[in-house]
Amino acid sequence: MILKRKDLLGLEELAAEEILGILDVAEQFRAIFDRPVRKVPIMRGRTVVNLFFEPSTRTRISFELAEKRLSADIVNFSASTSSLKKGETLRDTAENIAAMRVDMIIMRHSSPGSAHYLSRVLDCSVINAGDGAHEHPTQGLLDLMTMRQRLGDLRGRRVTIVGDIAHSRVARSNIWGLTKLGAHVTVCGPPTMMPADVRRLGTKVETDLRRAVADADVLNILRVQLERQARSVFSSNREYHRMFGITEDIVRLLKPECFIMHPGPMNRDVEISSEVADGPRQVILEQVTNGVAVRMAVIYLLSGGDPGSLRGGADA
Ligand code: CP
Repeated sequence: MILKRKDLLGLEELAAEEILGILDVAEQFRAIFDRPVRKVPIMRGRTVVNLFFEPSTRTRISFELAEKRLSADIVNFSASTSSLKKGETLRDTAENIAAMRVDMIIMRHSSPGSAHYLSRVLDCSVINAGDGAHEHPTQGLLDLMTMRQRLGDLRGRRVTIVGDIAHSRVARSNIWGLTKLGAHVTVCGPPTMMPADVRRLGTKVETDLRRAVADADVLNILRVQLERQARSVFSSNREYHRMFGITEDIVRLLKPECFIMHPGPMNRDVEISSEVADGPRQVILEQVTNGVAVRMAVIYLLSGGDPGSLRGGADA
């Protein structure tokens, strides 16, 4: 069994073998996307609830597509039209949904630790779709999948993560996943966007962008979280772009094979110039495609799916 657990809450708690096992299964699901019918019947009769308390485009639609491609029954929860508006707590809301006999809850919430909390109070599986600035494990997995497709084994590879590390759940999940798979991670950004404990996570810290990108195999560019605290941690978007934006001038410093990732949504011409965002080095939409496959794999494995039964095709 690849995932001997009820929930996926973060990459911090996964072993390298579990991460690699998920990525292998995701590759099998990715293969069906090129067929005329992109759907398999393996989750028929299972019910999944998507509980999103924060805005999302990619993650919400990607989970919904993953569930549909696995033939699960799905329910989408809308916080704005729910009884949360009448003062109901997260726990009561989730327990009432679980009491309707659902198999799995996918949750995005602004509070770090909210997915861990839900996993303790519910018997059904919980997948963390992003909890505040803590973790975004399926984003981390889809990033690893995209890197592995291009680089193969990630041991010894150099990944530079640029931007607002302190507020980024994507950075944390990437750092946990990459270091477990043996990659070297450098983080780069303004000192005001660097968490105090970042070295403890096994990363190198570099405040000079040009030095940080010079030997990278991959650049992963983070969104500046304008809605959180950006205005207090650097003087202007223009200033940020000048100091830490990935522009054609920066791309000229990269190794020829280095490619550029971004989890989205992008702030064009803040953390990344439009030329680079649309240029030949970026793999941003490959990441999005892989996201559906990774989420199919996680849902399937947490539901007790047997990867052995997928050999010979994901619809076996
Ligand atoms: N990458 C990501 O989590 O995007 P969304 O916020 O659109 O889901």
